Amino acid sequence: MALTATLAAVPPLEATPAPARVRAELRDLKISFPRPDLPPLEVISGISMSVGEGEFVAVVGPSGSGKSTILRALCGLLKPSGGRVMVDGRDVTAPPPGVGFMFQKDALLPWRTVSGNIAVGAELGGTPAAERPERIAALIRLLRLDGFEDAWPRQLSGGMRQRVSLGRLLAYQPSLMLMDEPFGALDYQTKIAMGLELLRVWEAERRSIIFVTHDIEEAVALADRVVVFSARPARIVADYKVTLPRPRHMRSMRSDPAFTRLTEAIWSDLALPD
Ligand SMILES: Nc1ncnc2c1ncn2[C@@H]1O[C@H](COP(=O)(O)OP(=O)(O)O)[C@@H](O)[C@H]1O
Ligand SMILES: [Mg+2]
Repeated sequence: MALTATLAAVPPLEATPAPARVRAELRDLKISFPRPDLPPLEVISGISMSVGEGEFVAVVGPSGSGKSTILRALCGLLKPSGGRVMVDGRDVTAPPPGVGFMFQKDALLPWRTVSGNIAVGAELGGTPAAERPERIAALIRLLRLDGFEDAWPRQLSGGMRQRVSLGRLLAYQPSLMLMDEPFGALDYQTKIAMGLELLRVWEAERRSIIFVTHDIEEAVALADRVVVFSARPARIVADYKVTLPRPRHMRSMRSDPAFTRLTEAIWSDLALPD
């Protein structure tokens, strides 16, 4: 009810063509975890959603609502209790090729340099050895890590470490990127800068993204669509199309009435206090 009213109130700013092809799909997904001496813990109770090719979908929801759980199901690390999880039209039973991840905590290899860590993505992604140096150098430039090629992870700030993680993810050339609160541990300014960085590379490479966050403004600022989860057991409370123009400009966008309306609608959906 609230969803229809809000969507009608947000005027479309640009026509978004329908996604050409479905990359990832959840169909009536249910996930429960067994518990000793208790009934199973129902975490996901029937979620259906799909992500199109090149689409940037944010998922927001309260802590513990099952956001990370759906990403784990999408990369084949969890077996659903019901429903289906599909990537590129195939049921997921093991980590699907072409799916890359990035988490809140970077998982850089401390014994490899910046270039060496990005190279891991290229190696795993099957980039021919002869093409790797060029690809890695291009990513270093894209992520503004020039001059830090030979630095060790311990010598980098949190924001730079996440840029290296993003470089490794892009070097893998995934067709679907699963990002679980990737900037959640960064300070406010670095988080905004990283969001812009991600948009810049996404606009250049247009890979499908599922971006999990508990930050409503971050979700609206970055995504084409924002899917709102309820508290556990998760269902979809709303699925908003974000029609703010691209490229996104953080400062002017924050005062755009469409941005404010959408963040307020999601605030209400999440039943946050006034
Ligand atoms: N492997 C597991 N075994 C049992 N419970 C789990 C497991 N993974 C997650 N949970 C529970 O599922 C719920 C959702 O977790 P999670 O997906 O991490 O939430 P979110 O990412 O939205 O904060 C939490 O209550 C968590 O404790
Ligand atoms: Mg989580």
